[in-house]
Amino acid sequence: MRIRKALKSDVKQLFLLEKKLFSKESFPLSKGSFRYHIKNSSLFVMQEGYDIVAYVLVLVKRKDAKLYSIGVDDSWRGQKIANRLLQKSIEELRKLGFVTLVLEVRVDNLEALALYQKIGFEIQKRLKAFYGDGCDAYLMKLHLV
Ligand SMILES: CC(C)(COP(=O)(O)OP(=O)(O)OC[C@H]1O[C@@H](n2cnc3c(N)ncnc32)[C@H](O)[C@@H]1OP(=O)(O)O)[C@@H](O)C(=O)NCCC(=O)NCCS
Repeated sequence: MRIRKALKSDVKQLFLLEKKLFSKESFPLSKGSFRYHIKNSSLFVMQEGYDIVAYVLVLVKRKDAKLYSIGVDDSWRGQKIANRLLQKSIEELRKLGFVTLVLEVRVDNLEALALYQKIGFEIQKRLKAFYGDGCDAYLMKLHLV
Protein backbone atom coordinates (compact mmCIF):
# COMPACT_ATOMS: atom_id res chain seq x y z
CA MET A 1 0.00 0.00 0.00
CA ARG A 2 1.43 3.37 -0.88
CA ILE A 3 0.53 7.03 -0.86
CA ARG A 4 1.25 9.09 -3.94
CA LYS A 5 0.08 12.17 -5.79
CA ALA A 6 -3.00 11.58 -7.96
CA LEU A 7 -2.40 11.36 -11.70
CA LYS A 8 -4.66 12.05 -14.67
CA SER A 9 -4.88 8.29 -15.21
CA ASP A 10 -6.54 7.95 -11.76
CA VAL A 11 -9.62 10.01 -12.69
CA LYS A 12 -11.85 7.05 -13.55
CA GLN A 13 -11.11 5.19 -10.31
CA LEU A 14 -11.38 8.35 -8.21
CA PHE A 15 -14.78 9.05 -9.70
CA LEU A 16 -16.03 5.52 -8.99
CA LEU A 17 -14.77 5.71 -5.40
CA GLU A 18 -16.39 9.13 -4.98
CA LYS A 19 -19.76 7.77 -6.13
CA LYS A 20 -19.50 5.01 -3.52
CA LEU A 21 -18.57 7.47 -0.77
CA PHE A 22 -20.97 10.34 -1.35
CA SER A 23 -24.62 10.40 -2.37
CA LYS A 24 -25.95 12.80 -5.03
CA GLU A 25 -27.20 15.12 -2.27
CA SER A 26 -23.62 15.51 -1.08
CA PHE A 27 -22.53 16.72 -4.53
CA PRO A 28 -19.87 14.14 -5.36
CA LEU A 29 -16.96 15.43 -7.41
CA SER A 30 -17.26 14.90 -11.15
CA LYS A 31 -14.54 13.52 -13.41
CA GLY A 32 -13.95 17.08 -14.61
CA SER A 33 -13.49 18.29 -11.03
CA PHE A 34 -10.96 15.56 -10.33
CA ARG A 35 -9.07 16.50 -13.50
CA TYR A 36 -9.04 20.11 -12.35
CA HIS A 37 -7.85 19.27 -8.83
CA ILE A 38 -5.09 16.96 -10.02
CA LYS A 39 -3.62 20.00 -11.79
CA ASN A 40 -4.46 22.77 -9.33
CA SER A 41 -4.90 21.33 -5.84
CA SER A 42 -3.24 18.91 -3.46
CA LEU A 43 -4.65 15.46 -4.14
CA PHE A 44 -3.10 12.31 -2.68
CA VAL A 45 -4.30 8.76 -3.17
CA MET A 46 -3.69 5.50 -1.34
CA GLN A 47 -2.96 2.75 -3.84
CA GLU A 48 -3.28 -0.96 -3.11
CA GLY A 49 -2.25 -3.11 -6.07
CA TYR A 50 -4.00 -1.51 -9.02
CA ASP A 51 -6.77 -0.06 -6.87
CA ILE A 52 -7.22 3.38 -5.36
CA VAL A 53 -8.77 2.78 -1.97
CA ALA A 54 -8.74 6.32 -0.56
CA TYR A 55 -7.97 9.92 -1.36
CA VAL A 56 -7.55 13.29 0.30
CA LEU A 57 -8.13 16.62 -1.42
CA VAL A 58 -6.89 19.96 -0.11
CA LEU A 59 -7.66 23.21 -1.93
CA VAL A 60 -4.75 25.62 -1.91
CA LYS A 61 -5.14 29.27 -2.72
CA ARG A 62 -2.37 31.78 -2.03
CA LYS A 63 -2.13 31.60 1.76
CA ASP A 64 -5.21 29.48 2.45
CA ALA A 65 -5.48 25.72 2.62
CA LYS A 66 -8.82 23.99 2.99
CA LEU A 67 -9.43 20.27 3.45
CA TYR A 68 -12.19 19.76 0.91
CA SER A 69 -12.71 16.02 1.03
CA ILE A 70 -11.32 12.76 2.34
CA GLY A 71 -12.68 9.29 1.77
CA VAL A 72 -11.72 5.69 2.34
CA ASP A 73 -13.39 2.75 0.62
CA ASP A 74 -15.74 0.98 3.01
CA SER A 75 -13.78 -2.25 3.21
CA TRP A 76 -10.53 -0.43 4.03
CA ARG A 77 -11.78 1.68 6.93
CA GLY A 78 -10.44 1.53 10.48
CA GLN A 79 -6.84 0.91 9.36
CA LYS A 80 -5.52 4.44 9.85
CA ILE A 81 -5.55 5.10 6.11
CA ALA A 82 -7.34 8.46 6.48
CA ASN A 83 -4.93 9.39 9.24
CA ARG A 84 -1.90 8.56 7.08
CA LEU A 85 -3.27 10.45 4.08
CA LEU A 86 -3.99 13.52 6.16
CA GLN A 87 -0.52 13.43 7.70
CA LYS A 88 0.91 13.33 4.18
CA SER A 89 -1.12 16.39 3.14
CA ILE A 90 -0.11 18.23 6.28
CA GLU A 91 3.56 17.44 5.65
CA GLU A 92 3.28 18.86 2.14
CA LEU A 93 1.41 21.98 3.31
CA ARG A 94 4.08 22.68 5.93
CA LYS A 95 6.81 22.41 3.28
CA LEU A 96 4.88 24.86 1.11
CA GLY A 97 4.70 27.33 3.99
CA PHE A 98 1.01 27.14 4.91
CA VAL A 99 0.32 28.00 8.54
CA THR A 100 -3.25 26.75 8.97
CA LEU A 101 -5.56 24.15 7.48
CA VAL A 102 -9.31 24.66 7.77
CA LEU A 103 -12.33 22.48 6.97
CA GLU A 104 -16.08 22.23 7.35
CA VAL A 105 -17.67 19.00 8.51
CA ARG A 106 -21.26 17.93 9.11
CA VAL A 107 -22.00 17.88 12.83
CA ASP A 108 -23.53 14.40 12.36
CA ASN A 109 -20.42 12.93 10.69
CA LEU A 110 -19.03 11.46 13.90
CA GLU A 111 -16.31 9.34 12.25
CA ALA A 112 -14.87 12.33 10.40
CA LEU A 113 -15.19 14.56 13.46
CA ALA A 114 -13.29 12.01 15.57
CA LEU A 115 -10.61 11.74 12.89
CA TYR A 116 -10.11 15.50 12.68
CA GLN A 117 -10.02 15.92 16.45
CA LYS A 118 -7.50 13.12 16.76
CA ILE A 119 -5.25 14.93 14.27
CA GLY A 120 -5.55 18.12 16.32
CA PHE A 121 -8.20 20.19 14.51
CA GLU A 122 -10.20 22.45 16.81
CA ILE A 123 -13.77 23.61 16.39
CA GLN A 124 -13.90 27.35 15.61
CA LYS A 125 -17.65 27.77 15.25
CA ARG A 126 -20.90 26.10 14.30
CA LEU A 127 -22.33 27.14 10.94
CA LYS A 128 -26.13 26.95 11.00
CA ALA A 129 -27.87 25.04 8.18
CA PHE A 130 -24.64 24.97 6.20
CA TYR A 131 -25.69 21.99 4.09
CA GLY A 132 -28.56 21.64 1.64
CA ASP A 133 -30.51 19.32 3.95
CA GLY A 134 -30.35 21.86 6.80
CA CYS A 135 -27.55 20.12 8.69
CA ASP A 136 -25.12 22.38 10.59
CA ALA A 137 -21.38 22.30 10.02
CA TYR A 138 -18.43 22.78 12.32
CA LEU A 139 -15.72 25.04 11.02
CA MET A 140 -12.45 23.50 12.22
CA LYS A 141 -8.88 24.68 12.13
CA LEU A 142 -5.46 23.07 12.52
CA HIS A 143 -2.33 25.14 13.18
CA LEU A 144 0.52 23.82 11.09
CA VAL A 145 3.33 25.74 12.80
C1 LIG B 1 -14.03 9.44 7.96
C2 LIG B 1 -13.19 8.41 7.20
C3 LIG B 1 -12.39 9.13 6.11
C4 LIG B 1 -12.22 7.74 8.19
O1 LIG B 1 -11.37 6.86 7.48
P1 LIG B 1 -10.55 5.68 8.19
O2 LIG B 1 -9.40 5.33 7.32
O3 LIG B 1 -11.46 4.59 8.57
O4 LIG B 1 -10.02 6.41 9.52
P2 LIG B 1 -8.72 6.00 10.35
O5 LIG B 1 -8.62 4.52 10.45
O6 LIG B 1 -7.53 6.72 9.83
O7 LIG B 1 -9.11 6.56 11.77
C5 LIG B 1 -8.40 7.62 12.38
C6 LIG B 1 -9.18 8.10 13.59
O8 LIG B 1 -10.45 8.61 13.19
C7 LIG B 1 -11.47 8.25 14.13
N1 LIG B 1 -12.44 7.32 13.52
C8 LIG B 1 -12.37 6.81 12.27
N2 LIG B 1 -13.44 5.99 12.06
C9 LIG B 1 -14.18 6.01 13.19
C10 LIG B 1 -15.38 5.37 13.58
N3 LIG B 1 -16.08 4.57 12.76
N4 LIG B 1 -15.86 5.61 14.83
C11 LIG B 1 -15.20 6.42 15.69
N5 LIG B 1 -14.02 7.06 15.35
C12 LIG B 1 -13.53 6.85 14.13
C13 LIG B 1 -10.73 7.60 15.29
O9 LIG B 1 -10.32 8.62 16.19
C14 LIG B 1 -9.52 7.01 14.59
O10 LIG B 1 -8.42 6.82 15.45
P3 LIG B 1 -8.27 5.41 16.25
O11 LIG B 1 -8.38 4.33 15.22
O12 LIG B 1 -6.92 5.50 16.86
O13 LIG B 1 -9.40 5.37 17.23
C15 LIG B 1 -14.08 7.28 6.57
O14 LIG B 1 -14.98 6.82 7.55
C16 LIG B 1 -14.86 7.72 5.34
O15 LIG B 1 -14.37 7.64 4.21
N6 LIG B 1 -16.13 8.18 5.50
C17 LIG B 1 -17.00 8.55 4.38
C18 LIG B 1 -16.55 9.83 3.72
C19 LIG B 1 -16.57 11.00 4.67
O16 LIG B 1 -17.51 11.20 5.43
N7 LIG B 1 -15.51 11.83 4.61
C20 LIG B 1 -15.36 13.00 5.49
C21 LIG B 1 -16.09 14.18 5.02
S1 LIG B 1 -15.49 14.79 3.47
